[in-house]
Amino acid sequence: MSTLLRLSGVTAFYGAIQALKGVDLEVNEGEIVTLIGANGAGKSTLMMTICGTPRARHGAIVYDGQDITQLPTYQIMRRGLAQSPEGRRIFPRMTVHENLLMGAHGHASGMVGETIEQVFALFPRLKERQAQRGGTLSGGEQQMLAIGRALMSRPRLLLLDEPSLGLAPLVVRQIFGAIRDLNRSTGLTVLLVEQNAFQALRLAHRGYVLVNGAITMAGGGAELLARPEIRAAYLEGGH
Ligand SMILES: Nc1ncnc2c1ncn2[C@@H]1O[C@H](COP(=O)(O)OP(=O)(O)OP(=O)(O)O)[C@@H](O)[C@H]1O
Ligand SMILES: [Mg+2]
Repeated sequence: MSTLLRLSGVTAFYGAIQALKGVDLEVNEGEIVTLIGANGAGKSTLMMTICGTPRARHGAIVYDGQDITQLPTYQIMRRGLAQSPEGRRIFPRMTVHENLLMGAHGHASGMVGETIEQVFALFPRLKERQAQRGGTLSGGEQQMLAIGRALMSRPRLLLLDEPSLGLAPLVVRQIFGAIRDLNRSTGLTVLLVEQNAFQALRLAHRGYVLVNGAITMAGGGAELLARPEIRAAYLEGGH
């Protein structure tokens, strides 16, 4: 299995505050990797640092064999990464269809129609609602739209920041099921950040635990789920 993304010793700062303290993390081609951690651990910062904002101050980020640590964000995103950021950030006044088109930047129009059909197959609800404004969708539908929009660029690596946030268990299962189907059918590589540790580790091939800006544990998804310290901190007592 080849490594698609590798972070080595990555640090990131907001002014004087150090949010990442030397992160080592790998995502192999075709894998679903989950990063779990408490509020403020630095999960979103890690996702954003991969995309170049904030920039890593130390260490290296290598994607598909190339050092992207110093590249501007727009150049990083051109290389086949797509992000569905925390809090969805869809365009509320645009329709579902228009929101999806916004994700298709740079692709030929023939390809765009085909990709939209794939997104609709994954999330039939979006097809039914394609003329509705994004801002009037339910929370779960907005999350589907945010993921669908990220998929419109036909990424090799999909970065998902808390897709289950605020959603009912049934909707969470639908969304995680869609991620699993996509991974199995197309081999899409996924880096998933979650507080919903149970579902996210069950979905993942491998996982990492981020505490206070540093990775404290790594292992297979099932293996991490079985560890007493994970259960105590993230499953029974925690979230
Ligand atoms: N723009 C910013 N300016 C200053 N500090 C920031 C900024 N963004 C995040 N931080 C701080 O960096 C730390 C890590 O934040 P981050 O958003 O990465 O955490 P997180 O793990 O995603 O948390 P959550 O689960 O709540 O989303 C926090 O202490 C946060 O207050
Ligand atoms: Mg976050």
